[in-house]
Amino acid sequence: MGILTNIPISQLQIPLMTPITEKMSNMRKLDRKTTTQILRVSAHVLSLYALALLMLDYYRNDLGADPVREILLRTGEPALVLLILSLAITPLTILFGWKQLHPLRRIFGLYAFLYVALHLLTFIWLDYGLNLAYILDGILEQNFVLVGFAAFVLLLPLAVTSNKWSQRKLGKKWKTLHKLVYIIILLALIHFWWLVKNVYYMPFLYSAIVTILLLIRWQPVKQKALRFQRWYRSR
Ligand code: HEM
Repeated sequence: MGILTNIPISQLQIPLMTPITEKMSNMRKLDRKTTTQILRVSAHVLSLYALALLMLDYYRNDLGADPVREILLRTGEPALVLLILSLAITPLTILFGWKQLHPLRRIFGLYAFLYVALHLLTFIWLDYGLNLAYILDGILEQNFVLVGFAAFVLLLPLAVTSNKWSQRKLGKKWKTLHKLVYIIILLALIHFWWLVKNVYYMPFLYSAIVTILLLIRWQPVKQKALRFQRWYRSR
């Protein structure tokens, strides 16, 4: 009989981690941390790229014959792209299991809000000279502007509650509130479809991407996507 057989199993101290496995686990943690850091920095750079370019062209007086319209277009399109990027994170996690992407949802969402705020500011300040009566007319009398404005109003509470404190305070309500993003993206797409004339391929492209992203979140498709993820990760 060995000496260990007399010791109750609960009192046995089996080392769960040898120094080597501990070192490997620490390295993996460090790797994950570095990847997340690199992804965060890249998301900030990517999000600020359009704004930096716009500012550069503004200082070089290179915004064309209608600078106000140019600023509207060059804040509106990045806003839409960033909204879509923020919406793309969960489907990408479902498909490939890339959990490191999760923090980018908030980054892209907040930058989308920044661009929409600049977009609105351009409209009310540069285009309508901060004249409230004109602004109200401009919003209420053009359907595409009204829809865009509705998207902005809905985006406000999401931007305000995008911090950890609000998430903790609101609990389950936070998730429900942030489902507004589906209505926002729909309104943003309608805004875009409504304002373009003749050339519809960009709104079509964005609508197609959004449809795919939303489909991946839909339970029957999500189950298949998760099966794909298992296959992808076991390769
Ligand atoms: C989530 C909110 C919004 C998004 C994503 C958005 C997006 C866009 C996009 C993609 C464009 C067209 C850019 C292009 O043709 O390349 C645009 C143009 C425009 N948007 Fe918005 N927008 C939003 C909200 C607003 C708001 C709040 C206003 C004003 C109250 C507004 C007023 C305009 C105007 C006046 C144009 C230019 C139309 C033209 O002259 O062709 N948008 N927006």
